[in-house]
Amino acid sequence: MSGLIPQHFIDDLIARVDIVEVMGNRIQLKKAGKEFKSVCPFHDDSNPSLTISPVKGFYHCFSCGAHGTAVGFLMNYEHLSFVEAIESLASNLGIEIPYEKNQQPIKKNNNLFDLLERIQAHYQLELKNDEPAIEYLKNRGITGKIAKRFNVGYAPSGWRNIMDSFGKSSTEIEKLTTLGLVIPKDNNNHYDRFRERIMFPIRDNRGRFIGFGGRILNQDQPKYLNSPETPLFHKGRELYGLYECQQALRKIERLVVVEGYMDVISLAQHGIDYAVASMGTATTDDHFNRLFRLTDYIYFCFDGDQAGLDAAWRALNNALKHIREGRQIKFVFLPENDDPDTFIKKNSAAIFEKELDNGKDLSDFLIDKLTKDIDIKSIDGRARLAEQAKPLISVIPEGIFKELIIDKLSQSVGLSSKKLTSLITEHKNKSLKIAAEQKQRIFNQKIIKNKKEKTSITKKAITLILNYPSIGREAKLNLIEKNNEPGTEILRKLIQTIQKKPDINTAGLIEFWRNDSEGKFLGQLASKELPKNDEFNAQAEMNDCLIQLNKSYIKTRITSLIDKQRNEDLSSDERKELNELINSRKS
Ligand code: CTP
Ligand code: MN
Repeated sequence: MSGLIPQHFIDDLIARVDIVEVMGNRIQLKKAGKEFKSVCPFHDDSNPSLTISPVKGFYHCFSCGAHGTAVGFLMNYEHLSFVEAIESLASNLGIEIPYEKNQQPIKKNNNLFDLLERIQAHYQLELKNDEPAIEYLKNRGITGKIAKRFNVGYAPSGWRNIMDSFGKSSTEIEKLTTLGLVIPKDNNNHYDRFRERIMFPIRDNRGRFIGFGGRILNQDQPKYLNSPETPLFHKGRELYGLYECQQALRKIERLVVVEGYMDVISLAQHGIDYAVASMGTATTDDHFNRLFRLTDYIYFCFDGDQAGLDAAWRALNNALKHIREGRQIKFVFLPENDDPDTFIKKNSAAIFEKELDNGKDLSDFLIDKLTKDIDIKSIDGRARLAEQAKPLISVIPEGIFKELIIDKLSQSVGLSSKKLTSLITEHKNKSLKIAAEQKQRIFNQKIIKNKKEKTSITKKAITLILNYPSIGREAKLNLIEKNNEPGTEILRKLIQTIQKKPDINTAGLIEFWRNDSEGKFLGQLASKELPKNDEFNAQAEMNDCLIQLNKSYIKTRITSLIDKQRNEDLSSDERKELNELINSRKS
């Protein structure tokens, strides 16, 4: 990296990038007509609510509102800065960036990553100086070597350690606050979030530090404290220890998901280098996508208490839609009062691995749980079982695995597989129908709302031009030359940009305004759905908008000139203008 990336290069790159390829390499997409759909990775989504338009080069989630271009997607999904996202796209396309010399680009999040890197090093140093903290880790069986591999550190007592070492200016304090390392209190003061805690730094899949988990040394509450959600850290997306796994192993044969930081570290201490922790949250779709990108063999090994059992059942529910041929998901149930950490200490790595091998297959766990409190011998019980199984099985993708589960279940229920399949299909169709009806309802409500809202003409014109940039080529700019209502300035700029770069697409236009405050507003308009029928003519609609804007300009200008005339004489230019305006209205 040695300079600024030229704008023309960015424009070309954005025009060339295939958003479907960029996103398809990271999340699962499904074709839906001319567009693609996916489960949204930016919120806890169950139905695919993300639409990707290859033509616009744009994605939009109808549920949480997330939207953007391929560049924006990379920035949000992989926590990259704009420059990093451009670099990543260019390197995927195999093109070299012609950096302009002697100018340093601004990397938005880079200084946050740098700061976290320095702070985790600071916590590690603090650990070296703190006898009781070292003693604590020793007592838990953690050696210096493993502590180092996981960059374990210590946040000593005191309210201003981080503030004093890193909060030297208001910009630095702002960064610390953004990262959740200090918490603002009254009269402009801040205090350290983490005190008297063993610090577990959390790294992203590129190894950058993005947050911390901290365990209290004594008996105080809460036992664990995590970094809050920050621009870098999203708990539902990260898996503690995944980066360290990838560093320790050349090939990842399997991964075991556990609940806690200490479980991961304690397993590593005993030579099990393939454990990751979901940090106390449910296993999300993002987690599954990440895990299955690395291996087909996933084991869940939670605590041997009721909470652990519940967590396993939740994990099963979320796993169902990720089942594919060749993938294997097993559940390992430890004895009550044990977690992976205590279990491996009492036993050995070999015994732990044996537990993994003897883990329960997802299908068995599912059927056991369903049949547990049900009297299969009674007709009533079998009906209830079928009823409970239907919603679960209907989310499993079609394939051998689904057939296998239906077979197993049909044996338990005493129904033929055919009958059970038809019951499940019936359920699926019913839920699809309900979902479709709801969508229609929302759509109808929107139409009513839109009618009431009297959307401004400028907004409409901008929406049109963002959705169909080519209509800007022929747009009569002179019609809106002098308008100064809100939005007309940007409409002019959009048309000018298109007339200069006739092949620019939606993504290109959006990226052009990335650093403007209007950028966000443009993204929202670009993701508006426009009618898709044959009668809809974007070019004609656009011309109509411009004509209306021109009329409204003329009207306001005439009024203001006439107003002026009442109090003072108009200049000769103004008189001429007024005459022309009045004449133009007649024609
Ligand atoms: N956790 C959390 N906040 C809490 C409790 C737990 O975020 N108040 C998360 C942490 O990621 C923790 C995991 O849930 O590592 C498991 O919690 P728990 O089973 O209570 O902790 P252990 O790992 O068993 O902790 P330890 O062995 O250190 O007592
Ligand atoms: Mn524990």
